[in-house]
Amino acid sequence: MMMEYTAHYNNLLCQVQTRLTQLCDQYLPETSSVCRAARYSLLGGGKRVRAVLCMAVCEMLKGDMQAAADFAAAVEMVHCYSLIHDDLPCMDNDDLRRGRPSCHKAFDEATALLAGDALLTTAFQIIGESAAEAQVRAAACAALAAGAGTGGMILGQELDLYHETIPATAGELVEVHREKTGALINAAIQLGAAAAGASVTQCSVLRGYAFDIGLVFQIVDDVLDVTSTTQELGKPVGSDQENNKTTFVTLYGVEGAMEHAQEINRRGCERLQDEFGDAAAFLAAFAQSLLCRVN
Ligand code: IPE
Ligand code: IPE
Ligand code: MG
Ligand code: MG
Ligand code: MG
Repeated sequence: MMMEYTAHYNNLLCQVQTRLTQLCDQYLPETSSVCRAARYSLLGGGKRVRAVLCMAVCEMLKGDMQAAADFAAAVEMVHCYSLIHDDLPCMDNDDLRRGRPSCHKAFDEATALLAGDALLTTAFQIIGESAAEAQVRAAACAALAAGAGTGGMILGQELDLYHETIPATAGELVEVHREKTGALINAAIQLGAAAAGASVTQCSVLRGYAFDIGLVFQIVDDVLDVTSTTQELGKPVGSDQENNKTTFVTLYGVEGAMEHAQEINRRGCERLQDEFGDAAAFLAAFAQSLLCRVN
């Protein structure tokens, strides 16, 4: 079972990496500093969690895996843009990302800003120009914009910064985490569903799973910021405390935060398996691996 899971995961990851590299060569050739900076951040590491989720959902629903690979690459571009901007001095001011100098350190702030803009814009171009049917491309664009936009990740990042000065309550923190991290994870999952022409009911069940594992993902990120090492994480530990963030750790402690995460994960996976049965086994196992991750 373990071997089967690992082979399955490696296979999806490999498909994603191959397509991401091809699309980078096509859309972000190394002809300008901005493209070089975008490639530096995009191709220099990252777990590709959102891309694997997009592919796995499409596969579970027996959809068009070529479309899903394009959509997965697009989501990783949007995610990478969010990290480049998140690290800027005006936001979290972190100088290390994926084990290397952050984009604004390897290049400069203006180039990093534009590299983020380039990744965001290119993501939508890739979806628009993919070989999927027009209706599927439109659904994918709408889902990605909704997840990344002012009702999703951007709202979450805005609230995250706001709560640096006004501490968040427990309820507010759940909202911040859902928006800043859950919304893009949901977009990745909805893009996989779009590539498979999923029904409204299927999309709605997947949304529940996405926001549950998105919240768990950010809780674990908050825990690792306290318990891990900079070497293992590839980004500075203690960043949240430095920036005066309210996190699940500041509210519940490390153990309390992990107990919350385990419970939310269990609930999210149970609901998914109620709807999709054995076909959801990989997504449930993947969620479990994200809960137990060390970086
Ligand atoms: C980091 O995301 C930012 C969060 C939303 C917690 P990841 O942990 O997925 O970062 P990479 O892509 O693997 O570097
Ligand atoms: C990330 O939250 C949310 C984003 C939308 C990028 P964090 O600020 O905690 O992410 P890291 O810890 O810098 O990766
Ligand atoms: Mg941040
Ligand atoms: Mg940060
Ligand atoms: Mg963090």
